This record gives sequence, C-alpha cells and structure tokens, in this order.
Amino acid sequence: MGRPSVIITGAASGIGLACVQLFAERGCNVVAVDADEAGLADLTRTPRPDGVPTSDRPGEIVPLVGDVSAQETGTAMVQAAVDHFGRLDTVVLNAGIGGTLPWEDEGAIARLDRILAVNVRGVAIGIRSAAPALRATGGGAIVVTASSAGLAADPGNWAYNASKGAVVNLVRAAALDLAATNIRVNAIAPGLTETPLMARHRDVPGLVDASSRRIPLQRWGRAREQAAAIWFLASADAAYITGAVLAADGGLTAMHGAVPPPPLA
Ligand SMILES: NC(=O)c1ccc[n+]([C@@H]2O[C@H](COP(=O)([O-])OP(=O)(O)OC[C@H]3O[C@@H](n4cnc5c(N)ncnc54)[C@H](O)[C@@H]3O)[C@@H](O)[C@H]2O)c1
Repeated sequence: MGRPSVIITGAASGIGLACVQLFAERGCNVVAVDADEAGLADLTRTPRPDGVPTSDRPGEIVPLVGDVSAQETGTAMVQAAVDHFGRLDTVVLNAGIGGTLPWEDEGAIARLDRILAVNVRGVAIGIRSAAPALRATGGGAIVVTASSAGLAADPGNWAYNASKGAVVNLVRAAALDLAATNIRVNAIAPGLTETPLMARHRDVPGLVDASSRRIPLQRWGRAREQAAAIWFLASADAAYITGAVLAADGGLTAMHGAVPPPPLA
C-alpha cells in the first residue's frame, strides 16, 4: 500500500493549513482545496513563506482551487486524489466562514444563506462526493471541523451558531448512513483558536484576556492543536469512533457557566 491519500478543505489558512502541514509531515499525500488561489500557491512554494522547509514534508501536496459550496469542487477534489494518488483514505472537511450580521441588518438573511452554503452544504457535498472513493478503498475517515459554537450559542452569532449546530447533527446522521461501508464520520468542535478567521476579534482591546479567563485552560487554542485532534479522529487509533463530536476547546463547553470561573492563578 502506498502513502495514505487525504483531501483537506480550507487548506490555505488556519486549521486547514495546520492540517496540511501535519498530515504531509506524517507521510500523507494531500489534495489541498481552497477558494483562495494566492493562499494555496504559497502552500507549494519553496522555500515556504512561513519558513517550514519543504523537506520536512515528505507527502506530496496537490493544490486545488475551488468553492466547497459547489458540487463541481466536490467532484474535482475526489478526482484529483484518485488521479494523483490512486486512492482516497481520509477527507478533512474544514472550510468554513463566520460573519453573522445583526438581525436588523438588510443583508442578514443573504449572509445566513452564504454561511449555510459554505458550512453546511459544503460539508454535505464533501461527504457525498467522497463516499464512493472511500468505499473503493475499503472504507476510510471523514473528519469535519464543526465548532463549540455548534454546541452552544453566543450573542450576535446566530447564523454561524445555526450552521455549526447543523454540521454537528449532519455528522451524526452521515456516520449512521456510512457505517455499513466502513466509513467513519466524526467532527471536532474547536473553541477559540488563533487563526486569521479570528484576527478581527483578537484586535479588540482586552478581548483575548477576557475570553481566556472564561476558558478552563485559560487560553485560546492553536491551529496545530486542532490539527492534532483531527489527525487522531482520522487515525487507526480512532477505529471504533464514529458519529462523535470531539470538543477541542480548553474545557469551554464542559462548563455550565452559572458560577463565575475562578480567578487566574
Ligand atoms: N478559529 C476559530 O476560533 C474556530 C473555532 C471553531 C471552529 N472553527 C472552524 O474551523 C474551520 C477553519 O477555520 P479557521 O479558523 O482555520 O479559518 P481561516 O479563515 O483561517 O481559514 C479558512 C479557510 O477556508 C477557506 N474557505 C472559506 N470559504 C471557502 C469556500 N467556500 N470554499 C473553499 N475554501 C473556503 C478560506 O479561504 C481559508 O483559507 C472553519 O470551519 C471554522 O468555522 C474555527
């Protein structure tokens, strides 16, 4: 058997980029999918702009530009894995967007439609596109990036909350439907994680400190830590896990919140 073959969406930035680096470092061949053409080009550039030497990544990386909310992208990414690597073992459906608008905003429902298209429709397209190729390999793993915001809600984040809540149950339903063909479907639910998606929030004075105080581990997560959780769910160590949502949130969703958190040590 050759190297494992993996599709990763949202591969040009944040958690997806960390996944590309981790999976490739550990010997996987990767189809890296993103709508951001320039960001994807950086992935295969030598030397890399982030200083990670290409020699540290034995797996091959094939970039694919596409919008995950379009069926053509689902079809093309699976075709790319099969054409380049001859097989498909793992799919990481990670691309997602935020940007909920206030209820009273003129564009609020159009924005909801777009968030649902990327975060929910995009995941559904990814699952249905990949299933036949995974089945042909004898089974495999799909790991979806949901969110702690899909397990509980935040003020001002209703469209994103709705989309990630839908993703959580989509993953459970897909796990039931695909179990008979030995395809496992799981999700991670990251809490606040340092990525470009969150740059806008990080720039708000005091927000990182205030939010960190509400997280039992007292800090934001790192993209690499989310990639490690995804790696685990994709790995043979998780062979008996399907339909699960693994919170990778520093304990945030373990907390009821009725009593104020203890002061920082
Ligand atoms: N950062 C956090 O705090 C956090 C917390 C919970 C969940 N998440 C989820 O993690 C995932 C990754 O987020 P991130 O923080 O790494 O964000 P990011 O913005 O750093 O990266 C997301 C990537 O997805 C790509 N993308 C967006 N829409 C796309 C589309 N329609 N088609 C293809 N590519 C598209 C972007 O170009 C970008 O490269 C998302 O699903 C997000 O909702 C993030």
